[in-house]
Amino acid sequence: MRRLTLPLSILIWVAVWAALRLGVQPPIPGSVMNLYLSILTISIAVFLVADQDRFDAFLAPLVSLLREPGLAIPRIGVLVAIPLLLGWFTYSGVRPQFDPPFEARTIHPEPPASFKLHGKAFDVLKGRRPAGMEVNEANLAAGKAVYYRNCMYCHGDDLDGKGHFANAFNPLPANFRDGGTISQLEETYVYWRVATGGPGLPQGATPWNSSMPVWQDFLSDEEIWQVVAYIYDASGSTPRVSEEH
Ligand code: HEC
Repeated sequence: MRRLTLPLSILIWVAVWAALRLGVQPPIPGSVMNLYLSILTISIAVFLVADQDRFDAFLAPLVSLLREPGLAIPRIGVLVAIPLLLGWFTYSGVRPQFDPPFEARTIHPEPPASFKLHGKAFDVLKGRRPAGMEVNEANLAAGKAVYYRNCMYCHGDDLDGKGHFANAFNPLPANFRDGGTISQLEETYVYWRVATGGPGLPQGATPWNSSMPVWQDFLSDEEIWQVVAYIYDASGSTPRVSEEH
């Protein structure tokens, strides 16, 4: 068992890393991941140094790799591999990137004339805010609560599209402060986008692979009107109004 102290420590570290990396959806933000991995590394180190015999057992394979005459070839291999790996990491960090940058959507797809929301048809072109859903203090306050419970993680604390999870997605979550997003759109269009999310985008809008959730699965019609009012108000945008309205 003692002989396995070093391989077991490495195995536990890799297993926890893999579980966090692959087993958690949506992906854990990089900064939080670094925090977890630092805690993990420190915990393993504390466990190892808490007992002299255990620590000696942990070091034993490393010491023999560096000292034993019979291990000259693996020793040279490791000593050459370390600087090569470090060099590779440094190189890949500073290497110019030719991949297209992560882009926010700037083109707004044509909405369907009407869509179903909670089983009822809603006309995107002629529809209006229903009675009771006027943009007033109470509805804005309710919309704010909806936003911070559901949307902030992607669209950001400041409505600028820089939420904790934002960089995990391509296309990026919309930046509501950008003049190219909601201020170009009528409220009913935004209502449709929030209710049906990425999966609701029409055929012509693919392959944008939007991660925007289908909010009618989680929010009531009222909550969607309220959060739509809130994102306009809080980002300082005004909805576009078509002549027919
Ligand atoms: C999992 C991340 C995620 C969450 C959570 C999320 N969104 Fe989005 N949202 C996106 C992405 C990505 C886009 C850009 C792609 C697209 O247009 O579908 C987007 C686009 C939008 C758009 C379209 C803007 C435009 O200019 O076309 C609106 C409106 C919107 N989101 C509102 C909301 C609201 C309101 C909530 C909360 C109820 C919310 N989003 C929660 C990821 C998210």
